[in-house]
Amino acid sequence: MAKKEFIIPHKGNITKKDRQRQKGHKSVILWFTGLSGSGKSTLAHAVEEKLFEMGIHTYVLDGDNIRTGLNKDLGFSAEDREENIRRIGEVAKLFVDAGIITLTAFISPYKKDRNFVRNLVEEKEFVEIYVKCPLEVCEQRDVKGLYKKARAGIIKNFTGIDDPYEEPENPEIVVETDKESVEESVEKIISYLKEKGYLEVE
Ligand code: ADX
Repeated sequence: MAKKEFIIPHKGNITKKDRQRQKGHKSVILWFTGLSGSGKSTLAHAVEEKLFEMGIHTYVLDGDNIRTGLNKDLGFSAEDREENIRRIGEVAKLFVDAGIITLTAFISPYKKDRNFVRNLVEEKEFVEIYVKCPLEVCEQRDVKGLYKKARAGIIKNFTGIDDPYEEPENPEIVVETDKESVEESVEKIISYLKEKGYLEVE
């Protein structure tokens, strides 16, 4: 690893605020967390679509996609999940610096890893969205057929089956995908962003 004292970051003249002003809205991480099959990706993309139509600059970072590229060296041990979230957090922070509303869809089962990302950025720049859905419902949906494999012991350490998921204690937003429609959940998130002034600049 390179010695820290030999690394001197360059500070450009264009700031995050400048980029936000140019785009006409603030930038923030919308951190979707929840079980596999709870609807994180579906919602993140649906919210992105809505924001895109409003002329907002957005990007989605999605677990299964990132794990085939940037994080293809990582598995699902607690250490690897921690490193997965650490890297995503750092990438999302860069996107926020670029002035983009960044939506992330990762199980992120550990409280401490999510809080690491929360502490990486400014206070208003991390919005935790708990995509709440009972395990039974996720398992019944089994969109990818992975719960079946986990129950059969073909996949080990599967979140919710033989690996933990720590529920968020104080998420900014909770959506319950077994009770609400996608449209209702999207509306809840968009309303929050409007109310808190994210979709405009000072
Ligand atoms: S995280 O725990 O490190 O945040 P991430 O969201 O990147 O997980 O990846 C989860 C996706 O990987 C799941 O939606 C599922 O498709 C797949 N997957 C494969 N093995 C596992 C496992 N053991 N536990 C959870 N998800 C798994």
